[in-house]
Amino acid sequence: MNEPTRNPRELGKPMNRVDGRLKVTGAARYSAEFFPQGVLHAYALKSPISSGRIRELDVTAAETATGVRAVITHVNPPKIKQPNPDSDSGGGLMNEHRLPLSDDRISYGGQYVALVVADSLEHARHGASLIRIRYEEKVPALKPEQARETAKRPSKHNEEQVQLKKGDVEQALGDQQLVIMERIYDTPVETHNPMEPSATIAEWVDEDHLTLYDATQYVKGVQDLISQAFGLKKENVLVKSPFVGGAFGCKGAVWPHVFLTVMAAKAARAPVKFAISRQDMFSGIGHRTSTTQTIAFAANPDGKLQAIRHRVETLSSPVGEFVEICGARSTGVLYASPAIQVEETVFQVNVATPTFMRAPGECPGTFAVECAMDELAVQLKVDPLQLRIINHSDRHPIQDKPWSTKFLKDAYRLGAEKFGWQNRTPEPRSMRKDGKLVGWGLATATYPAHQMKAEVTAILSADGRAVVQCAAHDLGTGAYTVLTQISAEALGIPVESVTFELGRSDLPFGPVAGGSNTTATVGSAIYDAAADLHRSLMKLASADAQSPLHRVELDQMVLMGEGRLTSKEDASKSDRYVDILRRAGKESLVGHGKFGRSKSEKSPTAFQSFGAHFCEVQIDPEFPLVRVTRFVSVMDCGRVMNAKTARSQILGGVVMGIGMALHEQTVYDPATGLPVTRNLADYHVPVNADIRDIEVHFVGEPDYEFNPMGARGMGEIGITGTAAAVANAVYHATGIRVRDLPITLDKLMRSS
Ligand code: MOS
Repeated sequence: MNEPTRNPRELGKPMNRVDGRLKVTGAARYSAEFFPQGVLHAYALKSPISSGRIRELDVTAAETATGVRAVITHVNPPKIKQPNPDSDSGGGLMNEHRLPLSDDRISYGGQYVALVVADSLEHARHGASLIRIRYEEKVPALKPEQARETAKRPSKHNEEQVQLKKGDVEQALGDQQLVIMERIYDTPVETHNPMEPSATIAEWVDEDHLTLYDATQYVKGVQDLISQAFGLKKENVLVKSPFVGGAFGCKGAVWPHVFLTVMAAKAARAPVKFAISRQDMFSGIGHRTSTTQTIAFAANPDGKLQAIRHRVETLSSPVGEFVEICGARSTGVLYASPAIQVEETVFQVNVATPTFMRAPGECPGTFAVECAMDELAVQLKVDPLQLRIINHSDRHPIQDKPWSTKFLKDAYRLGAEKFGWQNRTPEPRSMRKDGKLVGWGLATATYPAHQMKAEVTAILSADGRAVVQCAAHDLGTGAYTVLTQISAEALGIPVESVTFELGRSDLPFGPVAGGSNTTATVGSAIYDAAADLHRSLMKLASADAQSPLHRVELDQMVLMGEGRLTSKEDASKSDRYVDILRRAGKESLVGHGKFGRSKSEKSPTAFQSFGAHFCEVQIDPEFPLVRVTRFVSVMDCGRVMNAKTARSQILGGVVMGIGMALHEQTVYDPATGLPVTRNLADYHVPVNADIRDIEVHFVGEPDYEFNPMGARGMGEIGITGTAAAVANAVYHATGIRVRDLPITLDKLMRSS
């Protein structure tokens, strides 16, 4: 049924964003930009300590302050029920499990301890300043060495294998005949800084009906957890999120502020808006955990790997659970080796619970492995590109299954050619330009191809236009546009005739916009809905004596991509959708589709994307600020759905990876545990001046085994391997190996 149209027109085109005009004119409204009648504003008071209890609390001055309508603390919280997050069966996600204000315990700095609701944000903030709290303070644990007794080795996290073991790693690492290398890499905490901070508006329509505007990657997940927590029927909770200004993972789970906003609207008997400040994004919505990763290699002198051991230490909090699966998602999929071992240990510290951040696991994981590969290449005097080709995995290195498609060698070849890799002289400090040290480095990128569950409704009108619906999300990724293109292609009508609706919980089920799955999942469900719609059209045509397709068998009809069906045998027999509907006297025709793939581990094929990054840095030898002057990325993500938005996804991933390599680091005060770098002046992300020339190419070979579009996701792979490519280029330029990110100039001065 999922037969492609005979003359595909829409897919692959560099189509402009369908929502581009709305965005540049400011007409696209984000969650905090809605103003329900009588909306009140919430401001949260945050804990200045990271571990302990609230001993005394006095809110009397706050309650009587000008404009204040409600003050909620752990003493008087509206009662709510602990929801059960179950994203595997279409439910919501929660990383912080403790409900806000549920007791007097403090588990991390910045924890919400009170919410003040007032007629203006200023009054709410003033009210909060009048609350008096006395804390009983304990010494917080902030690092693994302060939390040794909390160490855990989860075998699985959300059904995914965390620890891996294949072959005898220890034996190979003790083998005198082999080249042995062991290195430790550190990555700091990084915090999501989308343009749009998180925000929620809650409006109780009546006792049993609730409307939310929420900046979220998962409207159905918010609907699920909020309905559970407040004892409402799911369908009575409407979550709207038409536009999201970036997310990168921090809007995937339901965080305390969402529950708090609904509680506040209940207590104040009015709609409440709670917009998270940039500062509070540093404790309230998750972050990427810091990691310490130890990579050990045993290799033949020619470079062939005989063993890889990847040990990982990451952090989580006392009030939640998250595992940044660094080893399994990098070493577990990258290189062929008879022995592979991945061990990951998670420590509980008094810092807010971490969460997914663009390529969680793969991103820090590939930093460690891809730097280690570069170090091994240096040690063996093998070209680092050659070393990767020698160890290319023709099958999944752990599951020993074939890949659906893998064109990594083509990505290496094309990238090397575009970059000019053959002109590299291997010796560090051997290349110079205009008095600057020049360094060239490379790394492999990888990210799994995920598909989840989705349902789609396609409504074809008598005028030939179609509305296609799914509770999916556009985080700024281009989903509105790509899903419009896929709909046009699948329905066989021009792209101008399609309106795609998403970002509302009353639409057919859409999965979390995470794991780079939207295009693949929702696209597949679109094809199914289109097939359903076509069946109805074909039946109408076949039964209609007026139709040129009268009595033509359904399987003898094909789509011609012009809003028409045509006989396979006789191309002169053709009927337009609009004519079929008109003659049948129908205003519209509806098609329903769904898609749900079982977990990839159970499939006989492994679905994974790969890519190659080539990076040039230039560094002043006297004042070693690192400038990334050139970057070439070649990605193998299946068929490209939209050349423009696809490029933007990879470009954005590379920019964020450069930020990881050179700038980003969330610093916590060792005395209080509070984030110190909590604005965009102190927490550095790349700006225009940091980014020069980035080239993006795609191999573009379709993966039809994966889905009818042949496409794998692109949202996250761009950031994987990027920081390693930069670090490897910095080593090549300077001879200094920096193994702890970010690579700030002090590290290059200190070691030289
Ligand atoms: Mo992405 S970190 O899976 O939202």
